[in-house]
Amino acid sequence: MAPRFYLTTPLYYVNDEPHLGHAYTTILADVLARYKRLFYGTDSVHLLTGLDEHGQKVSRAAAKAGLEPQQHCDRMASLWIDVWEKLGISCDDFIRTTEQRHVDVVTEILNRLYQQGDIYQKEYEGWYSVYEERFFTEKDLDHGKDPIGGRPVEKIKETNYFFRMSNYQNWLIQHYEKHPDAVLPSFRMNEVKGFLRQPLEDLCISRPKSRLTWGIPIPWDEDYVTYVWFDALINYYTATKFPPEAVEVAWPADIHLIGKDILTTHAVFWPIMLHAAGIDPPRHILAHGWWMARDDAKMSKSTGEVVKPLELADKYGPDAFRFFLMREMVLGQDAGFSEEALVNRINADLANDLGNLYSRLAKLWHQFEWGTVPRHGTYYDYVGKQLPEEFGYMASSLEDLVRKDIDAMRPHSAIEKIFQAVRALNRSIEICEPWKEERGKSASIANSMMDAFDVLYKVAELLEPVMPVKMAELKSWIYQDSPAGRVMSPQPGRHLFPRIKLEKRPQGAKLQDETIEITIDEFNRLDIRVGVVTAARPVKGTDKLLSLEVDLGSERRQIVAGIAETYSHDQMIGRRIVVLTNLKPVKLRGELSRGMLLAAGSEPELALLTTDREVPPGSKVI
Ligand code: MSP
Repeated sequence: MAPRFYLTTPLYYVNDEPHLGHAYTTILADVLARYKRLFYGTDSVHLLTGLDEHGQKVSRAAAKAGLEPQQHCDRMASLWIDVWEKLGISCDDFIRTTEQRHVDVVTEILNRLYQQGDIYQKEYEGWYSVYEERFFTEKDLDHGKDPIGGRPVEKIKETNYFFRMSNYQNWLIQHYEKHPDAVLPSFRMNEVKGFLRQPLEDLCISRPKSRLTWGIPIPWDEDYVTYVWFDALINYYTATKFPPEAVEVAWPADIHLIGKDILTTHAVFWPIMLHAAGIDPPRHILAHGWWMARDDAKMSKSTGEVVKPLELADKYGPDAFRFFLMREMVLGQDAGFSEEALVNRINADLANDLGNLYSRLAKLWHQFEWGTVPRHGTYYDYVGKQLPEEFGYMASSLEDLVRKDIDAMRPHSAIEKIFQAVRALNRSIEICEPWKEERGKSASIANSMMDAFDVLYKVAELLEPVMPVKMAELKSWIYQDSPAGRVMSPQPGRHLFPRIKLEKRPQGAKLQDETIEITIDEFNRLDIRVGVVTAARPVKGTDKLLSLEVDLGSERRQIVAGIAETYSHDQMIGRRIVVLTNLKPVKLRGELSRGMLLAAGSEPELALLTTDREVPPGSKVI
């Protein structure tokens, strides 16, 4: 038997609950695994996910909750498992780094590397970021903060164990020359190669117990525990040594799915650790992009933009939520998340295109009493009958197209192809007009409609990896198996995905709990002043912009404002307005704007901000 295709997700830290980003990676892995099972058999894939339970972040979260670290991990683990169950994750193994099977493998690899001289001890002074759980050198720092998240760092001098990563730099460079698709997409490979052009430093792989006790002990020195990343990466290998009963998993992994934030640890540290220990590197590392909040910030706890996947799944259903994530993000690139986009997608694709197709076929079936007809035929045998040929071609090759996209890791494109077929089928019914009395009664139309149901059934099968519950339901709404064979059983009036009405929030408004907090110092960086408009004119070539000359006391400036749908230029002259004066100048339609006028609401019902009594132009807003 061919070895199972071995697919992994990152192990998530248990310091917090899952958010949208975690849900995306895990759902993506699940969808890919389900497609593999559909196309290549139930034993064709092995999907591993799990939890990263050691390290400072987790230890601090436990202390904050007033729990022992292990207690905290156990509690969080059941929460994460619960979320994955609700989102329909079908993993074959779930690993936790505090499990004995994992501790044993990490200990063995550490011993091996130590004995062969790849691990040594030295005193080191560096800038330590608690958040990133790692050291930075002086030159790494960005304005005295960590270069990744801009968080504080502290100078620490301590003796630690180091792994001779630098010894293997050339090997890794050559390995990537030989395997150009080992890191995907290719622009991520370029990033890794760029990183490898700088000399690699040895990796600090221990933490003194005086600072952190929550980790896997360094086997030969009781004063240290293992650096959390060195421990966590090994999980992928552990799971092949001790897989769940009756499953054989062959190393190397076929694909490590990761987010772009953890590319270096996976594409540089990990293959070198393996190679040094005499183990093959993974076949592929596939880095996806980030889900960004509305303002293009990375979605994370620290930005205050956390989308809780379960809340959305509860509100819109897990299947619709999975569908949106897979359809909306081009694998590898960033995507913007908003609830509005989610609702629009559900309405357009699921309620409209797919839902309508079922409803109208079921309605026709009953209108003409085509009856319960046993089916034994194959799919798509209608080409050249009533339906346009272009569609026949598309349907017969749909499964091949989808398989090709999935094998090339393009789930968004696979889904789009399926929906092209759905839309083509809707179109072909419109062309064929079977609802017209005489046509509906003809035998060939009845046959065509059966064929259309076959295609819809195929669509449901091909979408089942993305929406397992809803598509199983749709399949059962089309055919039922009986002793006489497959029996058509469509019922009109059923709706898989009812249309959703989005409650509109006032534009630009954010809910209280999503608001980003800033400090008074951050606010003070804004130079906001009162100004008086001394001249105004429309900007050529647009009916949205006005050019204003504004008296700011010490100077007059041009400001271009998008207010022309609410205010005419002559209404603006003489008005007292409020201006953000230290915004970087920009050119709008060729006009230089040096500042921004403040207003509330949205066009065409804007309200200008002003002061409630007269103050001299240039007065600062504090
Ligand atoms: N514990 C480490 C990984 C160790 S793997 C041996 C870790 N954990 S994490 O909890 O921070 O999860 C990181 C992963 O979550 C990212 O790699 C990515 O898969 C996912 N995401 C977190 N935020 C994300 C977005 N905003 N958008 C998309 N996915 C992101 O790092």
